[in-house]
Amino acid sequence: MNETIVILDFGSQYTQVIARRIRECSVYSTILRYDTPAAKIAALKPKGIILSGGPSSVYAKDAPLPDKAIFKLGVPVLGICYGVQVFAQFLGGRVEKGQKREYGKGTLTVADKKCALFKHLPGQLQVWNSHGDKLTRLPKDFVVVATTDNSDYAAIEHTQRKFFGLQFHPEVVHTPRGREIISNFVHSVCGCGKNWTMRSYVEQAVEEIRAQVGRERVILGLSGGVDSSVAAALLHRAIGGQLTCIFVNNGLLRAREAEVVQEVFGKNFKIKLQYEDATALFMKKLKGVTDPEQKRKVIGKAFIDVFQSATKRAGRAKFLAQGTLYPDVIESVPIAGNPAAMIKSHHNVGGLPKNMKFQLVEPLRCLFKDEVRLLGLELGLPKEIVYRQPFPGPGLAVRCLGEVTPDKLKVLRRADAIVVEEMKASGLYYKTWQTFAVLLPVRSVGVQGDERTYDWTLAIRAVESQDGMTADWVRLPYDLLEKISLRITNEVRGLNRVVLDLTSKPPGTIEWE
Ligand code: XMP
Repeated sequence: MNETIVILDFGSQYTQVIARRIRECSVYSTILRYDTPAAKIAALKPKGIILSGGPSSVYAKDAPLPDKAIFKLGVPVLGICYGVQVFAQFLGGRVEKGQKREYGKGTLTVADKKCALFKHLPGQLQVWNSHGDKLTRLPKDFVVVATTDNSDYAAIEHTQRKFFGLQFHPEVVHTPRGREIISNFVHSVCGCGKNWTMRSYVEQAVEEIRAQVGRERVILGLSGGVDSSVAAALLHRAIGGQLTCIFVNNGLLRAREAEVVQEVFGKNFKIKLQYEDATALFMKKLKGVTDPEQKRKVIGKAFIDVFQSATKRAGRAKFLAQGTLYPDVIESVPIAGNPAAMIKSHHNVGGLPKNMKFQLVEPLRCLFKDEVRLLGLELGLPKEIVYRQPFPGPGLAVRCLGEVTPDKLKVLRRADAIVVEEMKASGLYYKTWQTFAVLLPVRSVGVQGDERTYDWTLAIRAVESQDGMTADWVRLPYDLLEKISLRITNEVRGLNRVVLDLTSKPPGTIEWE
């Protein structure tokens, strides 16, 4: 069993960030609901417990509170923001509504330099706050470790037991040295080693997959995206020839995508790859369809049909593997005002019909996306796949506005390839969330080589984002835009105008349809 830090989630939008920061310290962390019984937590033999922040007030009637017995498990506890106030509620402090909300940057002055949390850190630190309630009386046997202008109890520590409280958020990037505070907690206070690495995870996952699957066969729908690719490579390492990957070419892929998947997985990894070219079927189904929602429905349904019949051809298999990630399986805390809960409900995963009679293998279900990428590199996948930008299931169809036709797709694919090529050459591709071309259903007059043209318009979309939920358009250098525009109008027949999309999300969405 991994050395584990348990994070109790009180509905903070940063709970997952806390978990990631801990894992960046090479320590395993797991998120549980705030009211998880202490006995269940004890069964995990945690090395420490963190109480997350949250939108509630501890003095409210229905305040979310943990099982009080967690304080008797004999493991260190760190309360962050609302988590400090939980200490106060249980261990005899007082929390009140602050005179003013403390929100944003603050300067922390560390009074007790001996406190393990601030080991090797300077006496003054920039920290980030986000709270309305504040501690106004220390819980019993706690002392002050650090203060801010607005809070006399910005960091507190129990005099005998390893209980700590931070009113600010060490997990966010706006607390620049917060990582070191978290590292101090997990290493110095909880005594964790640095055992959680993707190298060790491979060994552990291989054993678990073998134990689950036995001698049975496994099918995996390979899209060429990061998650399914890493899952495929990991399963292949564990069970070799018992794995069959099904790759559906829906005719809506970008330039060379189908070839790269066949090269990497078929030729290099020698994975059993069942390639299904369903281009003709998808084109037939999309004929005359112009409504964006209708397009998505048609594509989703066609995919399921193709995949289902492909699984039959693949022969009898007991298991279906999926690249489900940790954020998809964390049980969200239903507390009003918890943005994390809202984000989850918005999460789109098309999924397969429930009537497919497979047992699931989900070897990535305890990993965050950045860990999946590291795992991919560990397994020898190329950077092109591991750092691939997100690509929507309906593919180029939602970037080819109006009716999707093979001719329009050809134009879009060539133009998109130029955008990607130039972005890669400039070194900006892997620093951008998504960069792509959109073919607009707009024709305009142009002049090319003394000839009048009446051709289509292409939009360039480049966005910066953390999670796809919100996004800002990227200020690409003019030189780069000029090069892209010149190449597209010179090299792609059917296009005579290039425009740039300057819309953030909101109000726009990242994709145009
Ligand atoms: P929007 O356009 O809603 O996109 O701002 C947000 C993110 O989701 C991706 N996207 C999809 N991903 N299936 C997917 O797997 C889909 O149907 C789909 N639609 C949008 C989009 O590329 C962006 O990263």
